[in-house]
Amino acid sequence: MVEADTPSGNGPAKKQIILNAFVMNTPGHLSPGLWKHPRNKTDQYKKISFWIDLAKLLDDAGFHAMFIADTLGPYDVYKGPANVVPALAAGAQFPVNDPLYLVPAMAAATKNLIFGVTASVTYEKPYALARRLSTVDHLSEGRLAWNIVTSYLDSAARNHGLKEQIPHDERYAIAHEYMEVLYKLWEGSFRDDALVADREAGTYIAADAVRQIHHKGKYFEVPGPHFVEPSPQRTPFLFQAGVSEAGNGFGGKHGEAIFVGGQTPEGVRATVDNIRKVAQDLGRDPNHIKVIVGINIIVAATDKEAVKKREEYLSYADTEGALALFGGWTGIDLSSYSDDEDFSVADASPRIQSIVRRWSSTVPGTENLPWTKRRIVEYLSVGGLGAKIVGGPKTAADELEKWVEISGVDGFNLAHVTNPGSFEDIIEFLLPELRKRGLYRNTEVAKEGATAREVFLGTRRLPDDHPGSYYKWNAGEEKPKYLVEQEKV
Ligand SMILES: Cc1cc2nc3c(=O)[nH]c(=O)nc-3n(C[C@H](O)[C@H](O)[C@H](O)COP(=O)(O)O)c2cc1C
Repeated sequence: MVEADTPSGNGPAKKQIILNAFVMNTPGHLSPGLWKHPRNKTDQYKKISFWIDLAKLLDDAGFHAMFIADTLGPYDVYKGPANVVPALAAGAQFPVNDPLYLVPAMAAATKNLIFGVTASVTYEKPYALARRLSTVDHLSEGRLAWNIVTSYLDSAARNHGLKEQIPHDERYAIAHEYMEVLYKLWEGSFRDDALVADREAGTYIAADAVRQIHHKGKYFEVPGPHFVEPSPQRTPFLFQAGVSEAGNGFGGKHGEAIFVGGQTPEGVRATVDNIRKVAQDLGRDPNHIKVIVGINIIVAATDKEAVKKREEYLSYADTEGALALFGGWTGIDLSSYSDDEDFSVADASPRIQSIVRRWSSTVPGTENLPWTKRRIVEYLSVGGLGAKIVGGPKTAADELEKWVEISGVDGFNLAHVTNPGSFEDIIEFLLPELRKRGLYRNTEVAKEGATAREVFLGTRRLPDDHPGSYYKWNAGEEKPKYLVEQEKV
């Protein structure tokens, strides 16, 4: 549960917001070129000490989670095809190390922080991923969340043995079956009381408490059983990122927290409502899904200083890196366009027009300005594609309150410009203001030893209304319910 800590006597407790630090195991996550900034230490991303220091900073400040993005191929569309050179100087999501290995060391150095790790169901095999995630759920004592993605890069497809990407909606069809396999492994192949660990009897696991899962589907054949004994949460807390109709259909069914993007709270409202409706139609309690929006906040002591800070950040931006990211995210190579072409006008390519029109209708104050390559670069260079707030503590807190009220989101994935600089600023300037307003938990509210699911939903295992619960094998049952029903067919 996201606990309220509003001081008593101040009227009804306000909705507590969730704050996660959004990072990636790379020098240049969402601010290409900014790795050079003196307050940025992301060039140290290969060192475990960098990650431990960051995890401790966030844990001590009471952040809920560190959310680690990942991709499985480089952004190589700009000046392409298959050209990684523009991303190199900026470290623009290249090189990228594997995120999962960071977690055990960071968990050992912290008490409460949750670790959300991205892994793709399009390219990872379910049996192997189930094992790796269970291992880290053990080592972090249940503080693991998994961000389920279906991936979007041609470069990932090519490097994983495909000529081109599997079509978008089919990736989600595969993802649904993938989850069925994982629930069977995680929830249904070890009975709840399987672990005996009785030294005198010489029994580690009870002989009748482990079963094969016999999964045979359209995409996967996995006999099981799971290779790892039940971890604290069994199924790690499930994050999901994806915003299409198929993405919302997947998230509304499986997700326990959904990561969405969008520039305005009004625009994000429709996504939030859609996800909760899908969940409700499937018999889930819509409150069992936390919706988290990505946002970049540049905060300082005053509004004026924050604006100055943004300008200073911009002087480090790397144009080629920004265009490399744009190419990867959209599949569009902007190299053949001049710097001053207005992409919002009729003779630009329809695809680019639709992207920049969406931006100009959602980025406040830009409705009548031309969307040139230069402006796209400027927008992306500090904090990436998502929503942005620049201001002093009051402005930033007002904006976040507005976001929660209008969009209905439960919290924010905070993109950084510098790391740890952006998080230090949030801790210094924003958290005290949020706490003063009763909107953010105090550090003492975080309960040591709580698993990820206990922090977000108040329960250790998947709740009964989650579709994964159907696969649970409870103590006292000869076999799990799903196997009994499967054998009847
Ligand atoms: C806010 C957000 C964050 C995402 N983060 C990642 C990521 O870290 N790695 C990744 O491979 N895909 C990521 N994705 C991509 C999605 O998993 C998905 O493949 C893509 O958005 C296409 O699905 P959609 O059309 O349903 O959005 C993200 C998507 C969104 C909306």
